[in-house]
Amino acid sequence: MNLILLGAPGAGKGTQAELIVEKLGIPSISTGNMLREAMRNGTDLGKQVKQYMDEGSLVPDELILGIVAERVAQPDCANGFILDGVPRTLAQAEALDAKGVRIDHVVSIEVDDSVIEGRMTGRRVCSNCGASYHVVANAPKTEGVCDLCQGSLIIRKDDAPETVRHRLEVYHASTEVLKQYYNQQGKLRLIEGNQDIQSINDQILTVIGAKA
Ligand code: AP5
Ligand code: MG
Repeated sequence: MNLILLGAPGAGKGTQAELIVEKLGIPSISTGNMLREAMRNGTDLGKQVKQYMDEGSLVPDELILGIVAERVAQPDCANGFILDGVPRTLAQAEALDAKGVRIDHVVSIEVDDSVIEGRMTGRRVCSNCGASYHVVANAPKTEGVCDLCQGSLIIRKDDAPETVRHRLEVYHASTEVLKQYYNQQGKLRLIEGNQDIQSINDQILTVIGAKA
């Protein structure tokens, strides 16, 4: 089961990826989380991507494709994987196809831009594992502490309202076109994202044929 999660910033890709990982036992590959980790560790990659990420612009395709190709080739991806936040441009999608990375389903979580701001202002993410929470819609068991790894929860720098607005523009300009691309391949599944987290998860599992 090789799955892509598409959707605007704050649509719930990371939240749903975590639930699918739990259900199907396949890894989630979040380019955003990988890049944030590289920044935290001060690697060359981290230094190269910092400015793009801080301002909410896309990181150049060649940097993304390098880390994704390497990651999907690892043994834990043999039975499937979830791509969260990648591909994000037509060039990335075409490159994955050219590399022979098989994709079974592309799930696009559809959320109106007007809903996104509330989600982002309430979001807290784990500084250690990247897990996503919301102070109201998906609160951690203990305030400020990750349920999964006990890491401390922080506010993402790119969740500032003006940066979120830019990220939404980037999504509409560069990423939304992927829906058409995968629709032509017969792989696109649209999910109404203005629902609670569990209902969305049930629908995703149904459309990918994984509902027990
Ligand atoms: P990335 O980390 O991928 O960010 P994003 O796509 O902007 O998406 P988010 O992580 O902000 O949102 P999400 O959809 O995961 O939502 P979440 O589940 O957290 O990318 C960051 C940056 O990295 C980019 O700007 C770019 O610079 C770079 N980058 C990464 N990949 C790249 C690529 N392939 N190419 C180029 N550059 C790349 O949910 C949001 C909030 O809402 C949470 O608080 C959550 O609890 C809450 N929530 C979730 N679902 C619901 C619901 N149903 N109801 C109510 N609240 C909900
Ligand atoms: Mg995310």
